[in-house]
Amino acid sequence: MSEDLKQTFLTDLEKVKNLTDLSGLKVKYLGRKGLVTSELKALSSLSSEEKRARGKTINDLKTFMETCLDSHESGLKKEDLRQKLLSESIDVTLPGKTLPFGSEHPLNTVLSEITDIFVNMGFSIEEGPEVELDYYNFEALNFPKNHPARDMQDTFFVSDEVVLRTHTSPVQIRGMEKSRPPIRFIAPGKVYRCDADMTHTPLFHQVEGLMVDRHINFSNLKGVLEAFLHRMFGKDTQIRFRPSFFPFTEPSAEVDIGCIFCKGSGCRVCKGSGWLEILGAGMVNPRVFDNVGYDTEEYSGFAFGMGVERIAMLKYSIDDIRLFFENDVRFLRQF
Ligand code: PHE
Repeated sequence: MSEDLKQTFLTDLEKVKNLTDLSGLKVKYLGRKGLVTSELKALSSLSSEEKRARGKTINDLKTFMETCLDSHESGLKKEDLRQKLLSESIDVTLPGKTLPFGSEHPLNTVLSEITDIFVNMGFSIEEGPEVELDYYNFEALNFPKNHPARDMQDTFFVSDEVVLRTHTSPVQIRGMEKSRPPIRFIAPGKVYRCDADMTHTPLFHQVEGLMVDRHINFSNLKGVLEAFLHRMFGKDTQIRFRPSFFPFTEPSAEVDIGCIFCKGSGCRVCKGSGWLEILGAGMVNPRVFDNVGYDTEEYSGFAFGMGVERIAMLKYSIDDIRLFFENDVRFLRQF
């Protein structure tokens, strides 16, 4: 009987191909209702003499089966692992997975182009606070108390005396307070105005410029701006100065370049005029020098200011300023 059981067990074991088969086999022979288990249960009907002899045979059989099953199991597990390692092997010759590359924001590209040009002309770089005193943003720049630029519609007020700077011109005052002429710096930075449409955002960027020394005149201003605009937009760019007004410069000018799209014949971008407005400029108003304690008999200077977004929009033919701030990668990837 137990020899038969041993034989069927061995035949069954030969057919086992995987761990599932093996555990099925374990249940079939050694489980609670298994063949060996029922043999053991059947012992109770025997005499104690027979019990001892038969019991030993069945227990030996049981141990034999357990040993067989164990060694088979570790064999199967080894084989499983081998298969797994084979199927999961790494092909080190495959090209690696790359992370998408970021790119410089177009505003930063234009900003560094602008600063590079001025740094090459010997200008240094100044910075000033974005949360600014009314005194620096308006008062010291000769804005009268009732000037419309001080109006709620343009200026973000933090308190009566504190504003978000509406232009980079307050850095002129801070720069002049800090040192004495000769002065030659640009001041790039963020500015804020309560305005929003296709060409205006509440936050935008400007680059201010200031040069103060003995004998600085309007020709120097024209020369510096011409050099800048020719490097920025190309040697053949037409330049024109139009009379304008700023409280902190006298005389003041608005500087235009010949339309880079239609070359002056008139198009949608230049609104048919053939010209594009690029920056504001002028000779520093003596009242501003008074405010920083510079001798107006001894010193003169010029200042200019430009919008970075405006220049970037022209350079890259972008017609909606808001695209710069939405950070849509499909837009940013194009530069
Ligand atoms: N601050 C002026 C503006 O924001 C620009 C400007 C700067 C004009 C310096 C003249 C001189 O419009």
